[in-house]
Amino acid sequence: MTEQIATNVHWHHGEISRADRYRVLGQKGATLWFTGFSGSGKSTVAVALENELLKRGRLTYRLDGDNIRLGINKNLGFTAADRTENIRRIGEIAKLFTDAGVIALSSFISPYRADRDAVRTLHADSGMDFIEIYVDCPLEEAEKRDPKGLYKKARAGQIKNFTGIDDPYEAPEAPELVLKTAEMTLQQEVDAVIALMVKRGLILDI
Ligand code: ADX
Repeated sequence: MTEQIATNVHWHHGEISRADRYRVLGQKGATLWFTGFSGSGKSTVAVALENELLKRGRLTYRLDGDNIRLGINKNLGFTAADRTENIRRIGEIAKLFTDAGVIALSSFISPYRADRDAVRTLHADSGMDFIEIYVDCPLEEAEKRDPKGLYKKARAGQIKNFTGIDDPYEAPEAPELVLKTAEMTLQQEVDAVIALMVKRGLILDI
């Protein structure tokens, strides 16, 4: 739990409610949280899903590992503490998007269960939808794909603390959805997420 440092600060409620925002947009916000190894397919499915949701007139925003680490989290590395802070900040950002009415598609390794659970709690405490999607790809397969050539570097000892090689990945115990990306087609993955969103009342079945 990150300590609250500033004192004498209080949440300021404006005059517009979340329900007002959702009504203006004609949709509910939600956070879809993709977790899995580097190279597991998190970003690929988020990008394809974003296209599908756009076709259905849904407003989305992708929060993605490398992009966020080039901006708001440029001062964070890959120590356990930095990864925890990375996920904490992204969790807060995803929550803001959800509160605004946007469907946030968040793709980060997010290797530590406690960090993901903290983001889940953050959403639940404010009555917001959080859907954890385990992008379940065997390490051997992610390493074979090695889209950024980083596993090769990690094996050669050029990158330290690389998830799956010399840093842990704690798989979700009760995710809302599991996508076995080494066995499913991209279309099947997108269809599975859409079906879950329909079931949860986040989008209509069209
Ligand atoms: S997380 O662990 O804090 O959730 P995040 O998803 O933001 O990680 O960033 C992971 C991306 O950073 C990887 O896809 C990879 O491109 C790059 N990267 C660089 N160094 C590492 C490392 N030591 N472990 C994992 N990913 C790394």
